[in-house]
Amino acid sequence: MASAVANLRAVNAGNSRFNKEALSWDSRPFVNEASQAAAKAITAKLKSLDWQPKQVLEIGCGTGILSFLIAPHVDRVVAVDAAEGMIDVLKQKIEKAVAPKNILPLAVLLEDPEDPQLPSTNAATKDGARQKFDLITSHLVLHHIPDLRGVLKTMLGCLAPGGRVMLTDFQDYGPEAKRFHALSKLDGVERHGINVEQMSSLMSDVGFSNVSILPEWSMPKMVEKFDGEFGAEGKPANDSQGERVAVPFVLCYGEKPR
Ligand SMILES: C[S@@+](CC[C@H](N)C(=O)[O-])C[C@H]1O[C@@H](n2cnc3c(N)ncnc32)[C@H](O)[C@@H]1O
Repeated sequence: MASAVANLRAVNAGNSRFNKEALSWDSRPFVNEASQAAAKAITAKLKSLDWQPKQVLEIGCGTGILSFLIAPHVDRVVAVDAAEGMIDVLKQKIEKAVAPKNILPLAVLLEDPEDPQLPSTNAATKDGARQKFDLITSHLVLHHIPDLRGVLKTMLGCLAPGGRVMLTDFQDYGPEAKRFHALSKLDGVERHGINVEQMSSLMSDVGFSNVSILPEWSMPKMVEKFDGEFGAEGKPANDSQGERVAVPFVLCYGEKPR
């Protein structure tokens, strides 16, 4: 009960922040570059496995930047996000002529693999068991999730036997990782990146096999020199503010046993 209440609090904090930021989300260079790097890391992993997924679920898709990069290579991406504002922006992007037409946007806080909002295996009646996926992606999301074990169990339940997760987020590389977010952007932040050892044992514990958490890329980010330097906007107001640091990112990989 206590953790359900904590979860709800975190979701509300996160939703209000991301609903507010949705309209300007795509204008951020860091956000776009990070998704491009995630797509590159996922593509390289697929190539190394010599495997091509058809049905993909992206959890915490935001405005769908990563979904857009993955969609041309698969049959369908079901793109879910808890913040309706993010999904509204994604829906508008999909309506444009040049957009891929195989993305299904859903505003849902995914906590149950049998959530009735997920597509059904019975397209005609929409009843019965929910669709299972070959691949689950989730980029820059895990550090917002209060109950990591819970979301990993949900992911396992959403995969088809033999399905895989490829989850990308920044790494908890020590006390400095805290600077990834400006002080005013800490709403809904549950941890300062992914701790490799903890994540690895959690994924194995939940039931994933062949787990690996590997550093994939690093990218520069402007961060505060001291807490609160960027004020309420959370970004530098002039050239003298902030400093550039290199942020490491990891790809968390696991398979659902057949
Ligand atoms: C930092 S944003 C990243 C968005 C997108 N992946 C990107 O990189 O542009 C984190 C997103 O995760 C979503 N989110 C957090 N927890 C979620 C959950 N349990 N289910 C669905 N979405 C979630 C938030 O609403 C937010 O849009």
